[in-house]
Amino acid sequence: MILTIVGARPQFVKAAVVSKAFSEAGVEEEIIHTGQHYDYEMSTVFWEELGLPTPSVNLEVGSGSHGKQTGIMLQKLEDFILDLPEKPQALLVYGDTNSTLAGAIVASKLHIPVVHVEAGLRSFNRNMPEEINRILTDHASDFLFCSSEEGVTQLAKEGITKQVYNVGDVMYDALLTFSEIADKKFNLQDIIPFEADSYYLATIHRPSNTDNDANLTSILQAFGELSKPVVWPVHPRNKERLKTVSIPKNLHLIDPVSYFKMMVLLKNSFKVITDSGGLQKEAYWMKKPCITVRGETEWKETLQGNWNILTGPNQQKILKASTDSPNTTWKPLYGEANATNKIAKILKATGIV
Ligand code: UD1
Repeated sequence: MILTIVGARPQFVKAAVVSKAFSEAGVEEEIIHTGQHYDYEMSTVFWEELGLPTPSVNLEVGSGSHGKQTGIMLQKLEDFILDLPEKPQALLVYGDTNSTLAGAIVASKLHIPVVHVEAGLRSFNRNMPEEINRILTDHASDFLFCSSEEGVTQLAKEGITKQVYNVGDVMYDALLTFSEIADKKFNLQDIIPFEADSYYLATIHRPSNTDNDANLTSILQAFGELSKPVVWPVHPRNKERLKTVSIPKNLHLIDPVSYFKMMVLLKNSFKVITDSGGLQKEAYWMKKPCITVRGETEWKETLQGNWNILTGPNQQKILKASTDSPNTTWKPLYGEANATNKIAKILKATGIV
């Protein structure tokens, strides 16, 4: 049995498609929800919509400082695993959240092989908690599944060469699997009162952008000068914060949306403005130009041909990027949307599950 650890929004999406591949390949899986995300819009709606198997347990860790949140996860996860009737054959984690790191540490201490999906990514910005989570998780992992050759090369530079595979990105599988279903389920006007191609889709939630007055002001001023409405589904951590600042007239704040609704918003957007990791890739796959409000990205391939432009929280750079267009023809990135089957196949072939 493989034990999968999820806790934050994007991990539910990844697990939905990987779990399906496991089930089709006859791999027995149990899922643990750490409870890092717990609001209906941040968690439950994803499980309902994506048909994820019910988790064996929700550890209900909730919010807290990084150390506290990760520490509680370590304790609760270890207790849960030690109480299982049989030791898992492997433990799988996704991406770079605190839930990812906690899973990797607990499993490696219990001598359970760690499988890391989205391995080898680096932003080279160690101020991001995610960067530390990625590095530590990779170095505790036994099977490392990368989204591109870049990840494989980076791991080799860090001395990690065994059981490293470039399988492509599981989010691509998810996007192709679910976006048609999403289109059938929701009309754009069910979600926002705008026409297709008439708005920017924005998500800003990194503490470096939202918790710093100068940076948030600069981003909001840039939004205010854009010629189209900006639709921003607001992460709960920023709700109160946005009540304390002046909101430009063309900014349309909405509650967090489900994955299906996000797919519909993305597909119909004019461009994307974000500091999220996953949305940079999703924008690329949907052939939408992306403005990334960060100084660096771990998804470097998307920068080719101006498909994705790094601006940091700089008003002038955001405005300049809003007028730029991609200057190369779109080509597939991060595999061919069959990463999930490859992962299941490789794990079976190695005999680990
Ligand atoms: C986490 C990940 C980030 C990922 C994001 C996806 C880490 C270090 N960060 O960031 O990499 O991109 O998830 O969405 O793991 N909150 C709620 N309700 C919830 C969850 C959170 O109100 O259901 C609020 C709380 O105030 C909490 C804050 O959001 O303190 C931050 O949540 P947390 O899970 O710590 O980090 P994210 O910003 O969501």
